[in-house]
Amino acid sequence: MSTEFAQSVAEGLSADEKWLSSRYFYDARGDELFQAIMASPEYYLTDCEFEILREQGDAIAAVLLEAGPCEFIELGSGDGQKVGHLLDALHRRADDWVYRPVDISANSLELLAANLSPSRPWLRLDPIAGDYHEVLEGFTPGEARRVFLFLGSNLGNFGEHGSIDFLREVRAAMAPGDALLIGLDLKKAPEIVLAAYNDAAGHTRDFNLNLLARINRELGADFDLGQFEHRPEYNPETGAARSFLVSRQQQSVNIAALGQTFVFAAGERIFMEVSQKYDAAMIKALCAQSGFQPGAAFYDRKGWFTDQVWLASELAADAAEKTET
Ligand SMILES: C[S@@+](CC[C@H](N)C(=O)[O-])C[C@H]1O[C@@H](n2cnc3c(N)ncnc32)[C@H](O)[C@@H]1O
Repeated sequence: MSTEFAQSVAEGLSADEKWLSSRYFYDARGDELFQAIMASPEYYLTDCEFEILREQGDAIAAVLLEAGPCEFIELGSGDGQKVGHLLDALHRRADDWVYRPVDISANSLELLAANLSPSRPWLRLDPIAGDYHEVLEGFTPGEARRVFLFLGSNLGNFGEHGSIDFLREVRAAMAPGDALLIGLDLKKAPEIVLAAYNDAAGHTRDFNLNLLARINRELGADFDLGQFEHRPEYNPETGAARSFLVSRQQQSVNIAALGQTFVFAAGERIFMEVSQKYDAAMIKALCAQSGFQPGAAFYDRKGWFTDQVWLASELAADAAEKTET
């Protein structure tokens, strides 16, 4: 991990438009800060998805279990606070299923077990610590009926091409009859989106700056965190919410593990993360281009967020191949 981390930082900070990979946000402090973000009043995504899973969990469970017993694999499960309502609804309908949360952060999986297991003695929990790209490659389609969960609009962090590539990776691990439950954040008024990535308590700022602190600690760098400002932007037409750290002055940063010094001009930005917001046409296109067929869609009362069932079908996979060529 450390070598990959070093390579990624070297590549990102050497680019004309500097970037850092959001994949490295989640060390122990990053996990803690992400929980604080999710609990902040401005971060509507959690509340909206909570509401969908709490109030429509039974309807979702009915759709997911329609085709019979299966295993549930959650990609990037985090600490599992939200999925509890869905697991309870699934348990009300059937008990012949197992829940496999996959997360790169072993710390998150420990928190998940502590959050979910004590009050659910019936839960068959089989956590997988690892990178979901690698975990997906290890699945043989058809060896069990599978339902993948990809909640929290995590897809929005992949960027346009990355999203389709990732969805195709998921689709490649699935056989006809398998399904994906995907959470997607919808386009809405810019002030609501911007506030979600700039909470008054400063958790999102600290979450972004924590990646610089991680580079200092793990790669022996000397970033001065006070010299970088957190700045989110939202383009309501494309639906892209992008976060940057902006250098407050001309400065140099040494990274001992790379034996390199990086120069930042005053006002120069480091691109940290994209959180894509979707509309119906974008969702329809994503679903078709990645080899799925749309199933039931669930929305919160404000219409700000959606959890949708996408089905793996031969027909859809053929159509995706045609779209590609
Ligand atoms: C934004 S959190 C979302 C947590 C949860 N799904 C939710 O909706 O609240 C993203 C989670 O994905 C995990 N993650 C990020 N990149 C990953 C990767 N490549 N493989 C596995 N897990 C990853 C992080 O550790 C983190 O727990």
